[in-house]
Parts: sequence; C-alpha cells; structure tokens
Amino acid sequence: MRTEYIYWDPGQGYQADELRHAAEILRSGGLVAFPTETVYGLGGNGLLRQAAMKIYAAKGRPSDNPLILHISRRSELDAVVGHVSVQAEALMDAFWPGPMTLVFRKSDVVPPETTGGLDTVAVRMPAHAGARALIREAGVPVAAPSANLSGRPSPTEAGHVREDLDGRIDMIIDGGSVGIGLESTIIDLTEEVPVILRPGYITREMITQVTGAVIMDPGLETGEQAIKPKAPGMKYRHYAPRAVMTVFEGDIIDVVAEINARAAEYPEDKVGILATEETRDRYVHGQVLVAGSRKDHTIAHGLYAALRQFDHLGVEVIFSESFSGEDRSEAIMNRLRKAAGQRIEFLPK
Ligand code: TXA
Ligand code: MG
Repeated sequence: MRTEYIYWDPGQGYQADELRHAAEILRSGGLVAFPTETVYGLGGNGLLRQAAMKIYAAKGRPSDNPLILHISRRSELDAVVGHVSVQAEALMDAFWPGPMTLVFRKSDVVPPETTGGLDTVAVRMPAHAGARALIREAGVPVAAPSANLSGRPSPTEAGHVREDLDGRIDMIIDGGSVGIGLESTIIDLTEEVPVILRPGYITREMITQVTGAVIMDPGLETGEQAIKPKAPGMKYRHYAPRAVMTVFEGDIIDVVAEINARAAEYPEDKVGILATEETRDRYVHGQVLVAGSRKDHTIAHGLYAALRQFDHLGVEVIFSESFSGEDRSEAIMNRLRKAAGQRIEFLPK
C-alpha cells in the first residue's frame, strides 16, 4: 500500500479539500494517522468492525486490547455510551476537549471489535483543533490508538509514525511535533468511585478537585494490573526501546555517579544514558540523550523521542535518571518504568 502524506500548518488553518479527503478515507474504512495534543493517533471508523481489525493488523496489536473512540463535540457522546453520570458531566466540563479519556458502558452501535470484546468503551475529545475538525468532517467517532507499532514508544512527531507505519496505512497527516508527548489520562467511571487506569497530563489532584474521590488502579504501582486488567493495554510490554534499560532512583548527585560508574563497563557506543539538560554535561562516557529540562517541565515532551533515538544509535544498555518529583512525574515514571521493564535500582541515601 502506498501511504499518502499531507501537511498541516496550524497557523494556516486546515485546507477544506484535504480535510474532506482524509475524512472520506476514514468514513469508508481506511486508516489515517493524525496529530493530537498527546501523541499521534492511528484513526479508523469506530463504528466499522473491519476498520478496527485493520488497526490491529497495521499496529501488530493483540485484538483484545481495546481502542479509544475520539469525538469532536459533546453531542457525539450519547450515541456511543450508556448512562452518563453527573460525575462524568463534571469531568467533561472541566477537562474536555483535552487529554482525558473516560470509560463508560458502551451502547450497541459500538462493535465489539473496537472495544476488544469489553462491554465498556473509552472516549476522548482531543484538544487539537485539527484532530477535532477531522473527526467532525468524518461524521463518525474515530477509533484511534497511538500510531506506533505495538510495543514501540508512542509517536510524538510524524517521522515516528512514518518509521513504524509507512506502507501499512492509507494516510499520514504531518502536523509537526505534539504538545504534550504522553498519552491521555484514562479514568474508569463504571465503578462507584472513579479509577485512574493510566496516569497522564491530567493529574490525580486535578481530578480529585472535580470528583472529590478518585483511586489509582492498584496495578499501576507494581506494573501489573493486580485487581482486574481494566485497561488491557497496560498489561502488555510497552513504550520499549530495544536495549535493556535500568532506572536509578536517589539523590541526583549519587545517580550521576552511579551511572558514570556503570557506563564505564561498556564500550562507548553501546551504552546509552538518559539525562536532562541540567545533568547532560556531567556524564563522561556513553551516548547521552536528553529527555528535557527539569526547569522547563519538558521531560514528558521529549521522553518518547529519546527512547526511539536510542534504537537508532544501536545501544545495548540504557541507564536512566529517575524523574520522580518532577512535573507530571506520576505519568512520566509510569511510562519510564514500563520502558525499563520495571528495572529500578534505589540508591542508598
Ligand atoms: O492520548 C491518547 O489517549 C492517545 C491519542 C491517540 O488519543 N491514544 C492512546 O491509545 O493512547 P492507545 O490505544 O495506545 O491506548 C489506549 C489504552 C489501552 O491501554 C487500552 O487498553 C485502554 O486505553 N482502553 C481502551 N478502551 C478501554 C476500556 N473500555 N476499558 C479499559 N481500558 C480501555
Ligand atoms: Mg499506545
């Protein structure tokens, strides 16, 4: 399959004929990758079972891992879900459009292929104006997982999508680098108390201010979804670079010293170090990549690109600083721990 490319310049608005063309591909069962404010999504018609199956095939994703339906306005929600609670309304008022996905009971129009056989459905209204324009023009809810091959880091720029999916999907819309860089916060609203299934840019504190109470899925701590695998995607190895990665937790001075000592045991070109702007110059041996700055809160934005870059460099081991305590650290550390296959070393104080 030849993949078609179009380019979105946010300053220019979205060309009507290109938007119509992309929307027509979606409506008729094709796949279009598009930017959102979190990561790039791989879109297909959320009401067509064949589209869902194409998405699984293109990503190499197990088909029991459900997809998120993307809508462009509140009125599109009612067709795809059952009951909408007062709590759900309050969360939508507070955070939509934006990086928050809500899990509801599904309605009958949503095929089981889209929800991986579950009787619930995840729905999100993205903040990205182009994404919303595309969904609105398509006239159907758009099922969209992150636009990466299964197991690879989510794409934060169109080049990452091309790397993984060129030749496997109908179209890639290049809208430049995304704003946030980590996937949306997922909240399950089908229980008495809302449950955070996946941490994201919308933090636990922000949610609590709206709902009063919220609990974290206990499995998030251990890396396993202990109680029940509510977000089935969370059980698969994810966001993974090819190299074996270890994260060091402790005082930053000790972390730098430990990483320098460990890196010295490997050839210069085989060892990767994941650092920040503030520490990059303190490493003496190895391929140093910067996720972002602790000062400017840019770590979430640069994390996935750095993990992909390590693959290109061909390193065999990666040593990473911990980013605990930084802005959005709950979400960042959730992704980093997964990328490291839960390999964390705690340095003594
Ligand atoms: O920011 C995002 O959410 C991005 C952009 C493209 O919108 N999308 C995204 O989709 O991250 P994906 O498929 O990579 O991750 C969706 C996660 C998976 O872990 C999946 O298991 C979970 O959402 N999920 C989907 N439907 C669910 C449901 N009904 N119940 C529980 N978890 C669900
Ligand atoms: Mg994903």
